[in-house]
Amino acid sequence: MISAPSHAASSFVTRLPPIAPAEFSGTSGSGALLPAAPGPPQEVSDGWPGRRLLGLMLALALTAGLVLAAFLQAGHRDPYSRATLALKGDDVSGGKLFRLNCAGCHGLAAQGLVGPNLHGVDHRKNDRQLIQQVISGRTPPMPRFQPDPQAMADLLAFLHHLA
Ligand code: HEC
Repeated sequence: MISAPSHAASSFVTRLPPIAPAEFSGTSGSGALLPAAPGPPQEVSDGWPGRRLLGLMLALALTAGLVLAAFLQAGHRDPYSRATLALKGDDVSGGKLFRLNCAGCHGLAAQGLVGPNLHGVDHRKNDRQLIQQVISGRTPPMPRFQPDPQAMADLLAFLHHLA
């Protein structure tokens, strides 16, 4: 009854040694590096405690800048879009502007020609996207238009009227 546990214990002991040296020799290289790793950060933070705070502030400033840039690009703070959307557009004068500036490509009835059919375009694009479409010139051959905000509001009203 006593011999059984001792046999089991001895079999564990005989199994362990071959594994243990292999593990130690395998990790001896990194084992020497590990104690040294916590050293340098301590020295740095002791030398200049404000360094970490400065890094954090820089990261925050960068993030804030990126967020702002994203907002501006989306046109959310774009003063032109804001001014345009604050105005009430007149679809009749928008229609005149359309026939003069846009009908050559989009057709007199906006049925589509070189440019696409614009009926129902306000289901595909919201007002800010429609404004960007007209003023950005990002989709050649459609040129970059520079209507004043009232003219842009009129064009928007016309595009909604088409829907
Ligand atoms: C030189 C030709 C041309 C003129 C002029 C032009 N467009 Fe376009 N327009 C295009 C083309 C081409 C596209 C398609 C661009 C793309 O998405 O690649 C387009 C796209 C559009 C779209 C987006 C359509 C969609 O399905 O998303 C709108 C809105 C639009 N035009 C409005 C106008 C308005 C308003 C004017 C006049 C102020 C105008 N366009 C003048 C050629 C023109």
